Parts: sequence; structure tokens; C-alpha cells
Amino acid sequence: PPLQSHTMHLAGRACSRSTARHTFIPAPTRPSPYLHDSPHPDGMRRISTAVHFYQNRHLEAYASKPATRLTLRQLVFFGKSMNEERLIKSANYVRTELPIRIAHRLRDMQALPYVVVTQEGVAKVYELYWDAFDKFRRYPQIHTLEENNAFCEFVTNLLKTHKTVIPNLSLGLSLSSPYLLPDRLDSFMRRMLVSRISRRVLAEHHTALTRQVNSGEETHAGGNVGIISTALEVNQCIERCAKYLQHQPYHLEEDPLSGPLSNAPWPKVVIDGHVKTKFAYIREHLEYIIFELLKNAFRSTRLKHPTADVLPPVRATVVASDNNVCVRISDQGGGLLSPEIKMPSDLFSFSHVRNAARLEDARLGALRTISSSTRGMTATVSEQIGGLQPDAHGEIPSDCADPNPRIGMGLPMSNIYATYFGGSLELVSLDGYGTDVFVRLPKLGTNLEGIEL
Ligand code: COI
Repeated sequence: PPLQSHTMHLAGRACSRSTARHTFIPAPTRPSPYLHDSPHPDGMRRISTAVHFYQNRHLEAYASKPATRLTLRQLVFFGKSMNEERLIKSANYVRTELPIRIAHRLRDMQALPYVVVTQEGVAKVYELYWDAFDKFRRYPQIHTLEENNAFCEFVTNLLKTHKTVIPNLSLGLSLSSPYLLPDRLDSFMRRMLVSRISRRVLAEHHTALTRQVNSGEETHAGGNVGIISTALEVNQCIERCAKYLQHQPYHLEEDPLSGPLSNAPWPKVVIDGHVKTKFAYIREHLEYIIFELLKNAFRSTRLKHPTADVLPPVRATVVASDNNVCVRISDQGGGLLSPEIKMPSDLFSFSHVRNAARLEDARLGALRTISSSTRGMTATVSEQIGGLQPDAHGEIPSDCADPNPRIGMGLPMSNIYATYFGGSLELVSLDGYGTDVFVRLPKLGTNLEGIEL
């Protein structure tokens, strides 16, 4: 039979108070507002969430299994010399691994104080994950290439539907900040975000491998294996991001910090060090980090030098050692610390105690807008850059709106991307002068994914 829609199933239950009472076991110390008829437009969703919040039979079975973590090197070796048998093995790994990883995070959400689930956005994320968990759990084994193509379509649709996860989660957890201790909130967000990256990597790698097999493309040394570029040129990634950003207009009116600013062009980016460095990595991850760091560097440089005709350059230094590739991005934008930000690492925090901006109206408003658009957040730099077609003169048009307005996710996400395969990201503020950011990425690909089991 066709899979029954999770929402239909829950809406059906939610309509009947007696059925709902039957399946929902409210903890006596935590009376739930959701069992009452709610005037909130989100009422039905909230009742649905409450109904399955404690329906744990299947969830427990999956959550008790450990994740099978992989290294970047394993992803490359497995993806090289693909054939039908290996592709189907990969499909079934994704089919059985993703519900385990999702189950861990659903359990994690259930362990939060219930007041968190009542915050805007959180029930939506819970529902999306429950729905994805249920669909993966029921997905039949894959035996043939045709079945794998159908599976890839299913996965691609889920990847699209889940684009709103980050703004919703960030909105909900920012609003939950008054109810959670900073360490608890931040460690929860870290687990949610790194796990999400890991699931998207597995899903996207498999669909990319499938595309390569279907199109007869060879996966060879120096080329792409799934989503991994086996000889990624760091220098070229930096240039691509810089070029794109330099074509972006500056949204003066949207920047609460800006007064009148000059029309100086954006700063130049000077690349030095081991500029020929190449290594095997996921292009999207490196570019996400570089893009966000350059974006911050550009903005603070402009704000620090409001009347300059020429802004001081941003320097990107690339260094390859035996085990790591490092990139240091240095700007002269005045540094990071302010009365609100006491330590650079506070910028990674989702707690208003460490980072007061989390509860600022402008930021919450931007998060609400993105959360409610079906488009969600632009997931990748390639999507942003790729969406910009050069005009007839080969120029990138400069009238495009910033696809990801300032929602405070760039630094925390860059940190998560850097640490996912065992790297690091450190911010050093030279107060009154500028900021140095050090990104280190292991170059041998032998570290396991940094997700919690
Ligand atoms: C996510 O993007 O949040 C996911 O978990 C993706 C997965 C369902 C394919």
C-alpha cells in the first residue's frame, strides 16, 4: 500500500480527543498546552506533535543503534570505480543509516524541557524529522538501478523539504534561550547541526554517485567522486567566493551598525602562502566557510573605514602541512569584541546569555521570514553563485538580493563544517585593528565524522 502520510495520520488522531488521550501520556509535572484546543494557527501541528511525542516504540529501536560513521577517505574509495552492485550497496547503507541518525536527534529533542517544543519553529522541525524517520524506516530494500533512481528522487525531495530546518531550529532555540543553560543549548544545537550535515553528506554523495553512474561519467583521480573533489584547489575556492561577494551590493539600510558609508568598492582579497595547494575535500564545505568568513571580513572592513575611497585588503593565507590544510583570513575591520561579545567563541553560541543578538528583533524577524518561505536557506555557495548567470558582457549582475540575510548562522555553521571531519576554526580578535580567523582542515581524510553516536 502507498505510504500513509504522517500528517494525515496524526491529524486524524488529533481530531479525536479520545484517541489522542489514548496515545499521549502527558508527564504529570509537565502539563501540555497542546491537548487543549488552541487558537494558534499552528494548533493542529502542535497537537500532532504532542500525539507522537511519546510514541516511541519504533524510535527506540532505531535510537538504540549506533551510527556507522565514515571517513572522507572511505567515501572516496568506495565511490571510485563504481558499479551497479556497489551503487545499490550505497543506496541501502543510506536507507538504513539515515533513520538511525534521525532517531538519535528525535530522542535528543524529546529530552529537552517541553517548553522548548512550544517555541515557534521547533514543532515544525520535529515534524519534519519524524516524517523523514518514518518514511526511511518503511522504505523497502533496493535491489535494482531503477529502484535506486526512485530512491534518489525520494531523497532529493526530502533534501529540498528540509531546507527550512536551520532557520526554524535557530528561531526556536533562540526563543528557548531563556529556558536553557547556555552549555546545554549550545551542545544540543551542535549535535543537531553536525548530524544534519552528516545526513546531507550521505544523501548528497549517494545521489551524486548515482548521477555519475547514470551518465557514464568516469570517477578518476583529480576529478569528482560523488560530492568530493579529489583535488580541490583552495586558491580557486577563495577566488570564486571573493569574486561573487565583490559583485554583491551593500545593503546599507539593512545593517543596524552602519552610518553613512562611502561608495568605495569592496576590499581586494590578496591570496598568499602555498597558493597551489590541492586536497581531497567537499567543495561545498570549504566554500561555505570561506564565503562566510570573507563576507564578515568585508562588512567589518567597510564599517570600520566609513570614509575611505579604498578599503584595506583582506588577506587569505593558505598553508599546507603534512596533515592539514590551513587558511588564515585576516582583515582590518576593527576586531570582534564589543560590550555584548566578551569572547570570540561567543559568536558561535545560540544562547542570549553569551550572544545578546540571538534575541534581537531584527534577527528573529529575518529568521521568521526565511522559516516560512518554502525556499528556506540557500544551502550551498554553488547554488548562490550558480544562480547568477553572467550577462551578455560576461559580467555578473549586481542587483541580486542577498540570498541569506544576516541571521547569525554563518559563523556557527562554519565552525560545524570545519569540525565535521576533525578540523577547527578559531577567531582571534586584534581589538581596534582587525580579526584573524584560522581554519584547519585535515588533509588525509582519515578522521571519522564528528557526530555523536
Ligand atoms: C536534513 O536536511 O535535515 C536532513 O535530515 C536530510 C535528510 C532527511 C536527507
